[in-house]
Amino acid sequence: MKTLIKNIKKLVHTEDKPKIKSAGSEMAKINSIDNAFLLIEDNKILDFGKMEDFDTKIEIDKFYDASGKMVYPSFCDSHTHIVYAGSREIEYSDKIKGLSYEEIAKRGGGILNSAKLLHETSENELYEQAEKRIWEIIKQGTGALEIKSGYGLNPDDELKMLRVIKRLKETMPIEIKATFLGAHSVPANYKGRQTEYVDSVINEMIPVVASEELADYIDVFCDKGFFTVEDTDRILIAGMKYGLRPKIHANELDFSGGVQVGVKYNALSVDHLEFIGDEEIAVLLDSETMPTVLPGAAFFLGMRFSPVRKMIDAGLPVALASDFNPGSSPSGNMKLISSMGCINYKMLPEEVINATTTNTAYAMGISDTHGSIARGKFANIFITKPIPTIEFFPYAYGSNLIEKVMIKGKFY
Ligand code: NIG
Ligand code: FE
Repeated sequence: MKTLIKNIKKLVHTEDKPKIKSAGSEMAKINSIDNAFLLIEDNKILDFGKMEDFDTKIEIDKFYDASGKMVYPSFCDSHTHIVYAGSREIEYSDKIKGLSYEEIAKRGGGILNSAKLLHETSENELYEQAEKRIWEIIKQGTGALEIKSGYGLNPDDELKMLRVIKRLKETMPIEIKATFLGAHSVPANYKGRQTEYVDSVINEMIPVVASEELADYIDVFCDKGFFTVEDTDRILIAGMKYGLRPKIHANELDFSGGVQVGVKYNALSVDHLEFIGDEEIAVLLDSETMPTVLPGAAFFLGMRFSPVRKMIDAGLPVALASDFNPGSSPSGNMKLISSMGCINYKMLPEEVINATTTNTAYAMGISDTHGSIARGKFANIFITKPIPTIEFFPYAYGSNLIEKVMIKGKFY
């Protein structure tokens, strides 16, 4: 089955030789083709090029005329907590009144509030809530997704979350990666006994998660008021024994040492990074770890912004993901994340494209099949409404400019 998208005003982020990630000054470079075609066979990209070079002898089953419109590779969202129960807008009001994220957490709100709700919610209901959210973000241009556990905080409920993620992997059209985040917060019944909770993560959770093949990666919230570098060290070693590569929450609330411990264990990514200095930059430069910034969380919590300009100018790659979760970023809209990248982090529109596609694909371990328009990669794209330039896309930050999405060759 061949589908031809023709007369594309601009085919954005094409690669003849796909890169696994984009770093430093390379991030500002995007290849695009004006007046282009994109040829799809079944679920993959077969070819692309200038309209005038299209071989008209090829038999086509389905046409789409994209006159005036642009075609982009789908966003890859490499950091979410999209499986959760209910919502937490009451804490949102508390935040508006001046309480900090840590103060809300200390009162038993925050992650523990979501853990309580999740405990009371059936596996089916949890699945249905997540499914709805995933369809919403598919329509907003996301074509691959990482999802974390971490609202269970006991063996049964963590497994419940991971089973929901497994079911979503099987039923949703987009690629999904699962991350085990048992060490997201110390649950109420372990208050004052953090080390014992870490023992439970290591001895009671990781072996089962691994034996049931419920996770691809392992995460720890390594930050002030949450888990220490020593806890993180122990959990990552335990996870890696079972082949779970780290992808951790680090340096959101302080210079926590999270970046260093992540790099020490060759984490695929370290995420958040509001607190980044010269030492963290030096460590990351000498690593294969993708620094991942979550603009939605910094925006929503009114936190300081990561020094993204400094990081890119130092030669680092940077990825941008949504962190979709009920407490610090209740949105998975990657177009809005792109605008935040430009406005709050002074990233160029081209840098933002690399940061939300190639680099997030790397941070999910799928850059061979996702993250750009390249022959042989999955046909995961979105078609815009008529727009004048690629700058217009993040500039018009409140407009829905996505007309149609295609996931693995199928239009939605
Ligand atoms: O990535 N920082 C830690 N965890 C989530 C927030 C989870 C929540 O508040 O529910 C985050 O921001
Ligand atoms: Fe997160």
